[in-house]
Amino acid sequence: MTIFNIISQAVKPKRFIIMIKKIFLRFFDYQGTLNYSENLNWLESNYILFEDYAKGIDPYLWENSKKVCEKIKHEAKKKLKKISYNLGGGGFYPLLYFLVRLNKPDVILETGVAAGYSSYAILKGIEENIKGRLYSSDFPYFRIPNPEKYIGIIVPEKLKKCWELFIDGDSINLPVISKKIKKIDIFHYDSDKSYNGRKNALNLLKNNIDSSTILIMDDIQDNSFFYDYIIKSSPKKWYIFKFEGKYIGYIEGL
Ligand SMILES: C[S@@+](CC[C@H](N)C(=O)[O-])C[C@H]1O[C@@H](n2cnc3c(N)ncnc32)[C@H](O)[C@@H]1O
Repeated sequence: MTIFNIISQAVKPKRFIIMIKKIFLRFFDYQGTLNYSENLNWLESNYILFEDYAKGIDPYLWENSKKVCEKIKHEAKKKLKKISYNLGGGGFYPLLYFLVRLNKPDVILETGVAAGYSSYAILKGIEENIKGRLYSSDFPYFRIPNPEKYIGIIVPEKLKKCWELFIDGDSINLPVISKKIKKIDIFHYDSDKSYNGRKNALNLLKNNIDSSTILIMDDIQDNSFFYDYIIKSSPKKWYIFKFEGKYIGYIEGL
């Protein structure tokens, strides 16, 4: 069944090219200037808890963010129970909700949607801010049948009016989104975790990122892209947050 699903995606030319790239990067990706354990040591000695950071800025908003995201988690569990495929868990979506409510951005871009925890949290923040638009880039999970219909499945219909979803993979989606928007206020990267995937995405969006863009990158323990990037670009602020054993990078003031 999996082979059949893979073939039915691979016959679509746009999907095929990205599938081949993903398989290639799985085996031959560059790991960065630090090896896996050097990078992990660096993350471990530099991380702070997002909870402490958020409480220092706005404790009331953080408490509210946790409550809103508990509700999202509960709803998601109920919806996902009815699906027989594992669509994976969410990113650190309470952080996203908190940042959206705090900064009231006009344009948010995220890569990596899957079931849609991060999309839901961001769109919920947009609804409450009464401003903003979310642009999301994803690529269907090619091991399951009809994967397109599961992208963002937990996002309630009523929140979708502020959402534009692109599902042809970052290398195709991001140039399209880049032309549609001017500046990105918040960029959440949670798609292709390879070094090259991260590098290409930032390169494709270089005209939309400036010193006021907030950049959040998930799973920065996978390679040393985040370390290399801050060494190269010397941003004014950067943090490493730890969440459920994974690390999330935050950059402001590029
Ligand atoms: C970890 S999941 C995203 C989780 C999501 N942010 C959430 O909080 O629910 C990663 C997603 O990125 C997608 N993805 C992987 N490679 C991609 C690529 N090259 N372009 C776009 N999306 C990609 C996967 O198919 C998957 O849907």
